[in-house]
Amino acid sequence: MNNLLKYALIFIALVIFGAFLLVALIPGVNVPWQQLTGTADTDEETVERELVVADGFSVTLFADDVPNARWLAVTRNGDVLVSQPRRGQVSLLRADANEDGRADGQRVLIDGLRRPHGLFLHEDWLYIAESDAVGRVPFDHSDRRLAGSYQRIVKGLDDSGNHWTKTIDLGPDGWVYLSSGSSCNVCEEENPRRATIMRFKPEGGEPEIFATGLRNSVGFDWSPVSGELYATDNGRDWLGDDFPPDELNRVKKGAFYGWPYANGNRVPDPDFGVDASAEIEQKIDKSTPPVHGFRAHNAPLGIHFLESPLQPRGYWDSALVALHGSWNRSEKDGYKVVSLHWDASGNIRERDFLQGFLSDDGETVFGRPVAFAEDANGNIYISDDYAGAVYRVRAGKNPRGGTIPGNRPPIQAPPKPQPIDSGAAQRGEEIYQRFDCARCHAEQMPLRNLARKYSLQQLADYFDTPTPPMPKYDFSATQKRALAHYLMSLEHRIESTAPLN
Ligand code: HEC
Repeated sequence: MNNLLKYALIFIALVIFGAFLLVALIPGVNVPWQQLTGTADTDEETVERELVVADGFSVTLFADDVPNARWLAVTRNGDVLVSQPRRGQVSLLRADANEDGRADGQRVLIDGLRRPHGLFLHEDWLYIAESDAVGRVPFDHSDRRLAGSYQRIVKGLDDSGNHWTKTIDLGPDGWVYLSSGSSCNVCEEENPRRATIMRFKPEGGEPEIFATGLRNSVGFDWSPVSGELYATDNGRDWLGDDFPPDELNRVKKGAFYGWPYANGNRVPDPDFGVDASAEIEQKIDKSTPPVHGFRAHNAPLGIHFLESPLQPRGYWDSALVALHGSWNRSEKDGYKVVSLHWDASGNIRERDFLQGFLSDDGETVFGRPVAFAEDANGNIYISDDYAGAVYRVRAGKNPRGGTIPGNRPPIQAPPKPQPIDSGAAQRGEEIYQRFDCARCHAEQMPLRNLARKYSLQQLADYFDTPTPPMPKYDFSATQKRALAHYLMSLEHRIESTAPLN
């Protein structure tokens, strides 16, 4: 009798659990926890029906069996790596060699990690940010395999409390940058590394706190034009539907960005900044306000400056930002990807880039975008941790297949060879490396035959009005001259070492 009762109870419990699962999995039915755990599914039909991408682009479902897909990186082979923190793993999605729009297979690259989130590739290493450590493992791009064992190079990061994800990326200055969110909604942190961006050397040495007062800067990237670091930041909760704005900050070394004492444009926080001590008031005054505000609770995560010259003209040097979508708001908001466009005076305009993750009536969530990666062919990959998917967006209507428009007419008489100033050439080389010109000019568009087209002065002048999509840098006259001497010196070197046949 006793046993019978026990079995009956277990049976009833199973039936209830089963019914709950069924309801949760019916598309369109929005059970509250569904949104946080990301059990929704998506398919090509949903993507085609719901998602709308900006003019000039097309979107397809690249992979749909990637539960909890968060951060992305593209290998030299064009494969896509994706972190899945909840599963403790990083997966490899094979490049779409057969051009059917889908990944040509996928497998787990590494597992057994502690909530791996951020990741990037540098030389022959794959760097991974677990919630309490950063590690790296040798990676063979052509073989698509790990080529050694995983070693933690930074340890002891705090992952208690609210914002445990860690994001990492390699800066143009050769430092590895690491963001760590706050442990709480709003509080004074005990651990000085929380709510900061830190940095360290690629081997793990010389760790230092780079900027503070950043509540949760999940995404960051460097402008290819100015080299400046931009980071998204999620504002605090429970101050109403429309306050505070989520932020885009231009992050400088040593700067303080306000949290927990101030929100948005130095507005004192009701809990920690109002009626505060003189010391805190001073901190607020000295804090750096955001350069752009997103709508409250939209939760900007990944940010990526587009780099491929194959993107449509209006998108050169613009950035994409994934608005993961609100939870602390009576009506859902966000749930889309926006593009940011800088005008000549540095003002930022925000435009919708990829939307439709939220139904028009605001009831059904089809996905929540997280992060980006862009490959050499201009494919933009976007992860979605809610639908467990990766989308591919590319310049659509007119695929340009690798050729760059705009061959200018040849200059009639080749200018006479001119002497190179080797000091200037060396400084030019440093500039060339600092601005990572090789990113476009190494393979895609090698700089050739410049001596036939330009005199030194003409080459220096070229940087004032470069042909798009070549970025416009605000180089000084000395810098332009140095670059011209450097580029010409390359030509001479190539000529003089060329075989004589
Ligand atoms: C985002 C990609 C990109 C980056 C970064 C970039 N360029 Fe370019 N650059 C281009 C493109 C595209 C062209 C070709 C434009 C054309 O042919 O119409 C070009 C053209 C040039 C030319 C003229 C080549 C010729 O044959 O006339 C020079 C010189 C040059 N770039 C130098 C540089 C230097 C120096 C840097 C770094 C400071 C740099 N570029 C960074 C995309 C880039």
